[in-house]
Amino acid sequence: MTVKRSPISRAIVVGSGAMGSGIAQVFAEAGLIVHLIDVNAHALEQGVATLEKNLERRVAKGTFSAEQIADIRSRIYPATEIDGNARRAEFAIEAVFENLDVKTAIVRDLDTALSSGAIIASNTSSISISRLAAISSHPERVVGMHFFNPAPVMPLVEVVRGIQTADEVALSVSLLATTCGKTPIEASDSPGFVGNRILLPMINEAVFTLSEGVATRDGIDQVMKLGMSHPMGPLALADLIGLDVCLDILTVLHRDFGDDKYRPAPLLRRMVAAGRLGRKSGRGFYHYAAGDTPA
Ligand code: 3HC
Repeated sequence: MTVKRSPISRAIVVGSGAMGSGIAQVFAEAGLIVHLIDVNAHALEQGVATLEKNLERRVAKGTFSAEQIADIRSRIYPATEIDGNARRAEFAIEAVFENLDVKTAIVRDLDTALSSGAIIASNTSSISISRLAAISSHPERVVGMHFFNPAPVMPLVEVVRGIQTADEVALSVSLLATTCGKTPIEASDSPGFVGNRILLPMINEAVFTLSEGVATRDGIDQVMKLGMSHPMGPLALADLIGLDVCLDILTVLHRDFGDDKYRPAPLLRRMVAAGRLGRKSGRGFYHYAAGDTPA
C-alpha cells in the first residue's frame, strides 16, 4: 500500500520556544526544509540548542543514527526574519506565546511575505482561528494546527477550522500531520478546541484540591498516575505546559463560555504573579532548580 505524502516541502516555524523548536524538529524529521524564525536572537539560539539536545537524545536512544541526525539538522535554517528562501515556503505555522496582538502581527507578516497559495497555520491553544483568519487577505488559507507538548513525542495534532478555512487547506494540514507520523483530529473553532477544554479543567481542579488541603502535591499527582494511569500527575503536567499558559487558556475558556466552571484557581493566579511558571522558570509546583522533581 502506498501512503500518500504531503507535497509540502518547505515550512516556516515562527517562534523558537518549546513548541516552536519541537515542531521544527518534527517537520525536519519528516524531511521538510524548515525555516525556524524568532525575532529574538537569544531565544533563537536557545531554541536551536534545545532542538539539538533532543536530536542527540534520539541518537543515544538509538531512534536515529548520527548521520541521520546530521541530515535532519542540516534541513533546519534558523533566522531572525522571514527572508530569502523562506519566502518560498508553501506552509507556515506560528508557535509564539498566547498573545493576540503578537499573533496578529505575525499572521500579517506571513500574509505579505508568502505567495497567496501558501497555508498559514497557528499552533494557538485558545485563540480563535476565525479571528486570526480575518487578518489575512486570504482568510481561507488560515487554519489551526495544534501540537501537544512535547511535540516530537505526542502523536496528536488537532486540525482546527475557522469559519473561513477552505476544505482543501484543512485536508492539506491533516496530510502534513500524517506525513509527520502524527494522528490529525479535526475540531471546530470552539474555545480550547477539544484537548485543552477537557484537560485544563482537570488541572485547575487539581490546583483547587491542593489549595484546599485535600491532599499534598505528591498525593494529588500520584492519585492521577496510579489511579488513572496518566503518564504524569496534573500538577507536574501544569509545570510542563507552563503555569502562565494554563492560566491563559483557563481565562479564555472562562471568558468565552461565560461559565464559572472554568474560573482559574486563585493559587494558579498567585503562582503566575510570583513568576513560578513551571519547568521553564525552574519552579512551579515542583522546584526543579533545587532537585525537587516529580516522582
Ligand atoms: N522534547 C522532546 N522529546 C522528549 C521530551 C521533550 N521535552 N521529553 C521526553 N522526550 C522523549 C524522549 O526522548 C523519549 O523518546 P524515545 O521514545 O524516542 O526514546 C520519550 O520522549 C520518552 O521520554 P522519557 O522516557 O525520558 O520520559 P517519560 O517516559 O517519562 O515520558 C513524557 C515523558 C512524554 C513527557 C510523558 O510523561 C507524557 O506523555 N506526559 C504527558 C504529556 C502531556 O500530557 N502533554 C500534553 C500537554 S497539553 C498541550 O501540550 C496542549 C497545549 O496547548 C497546552
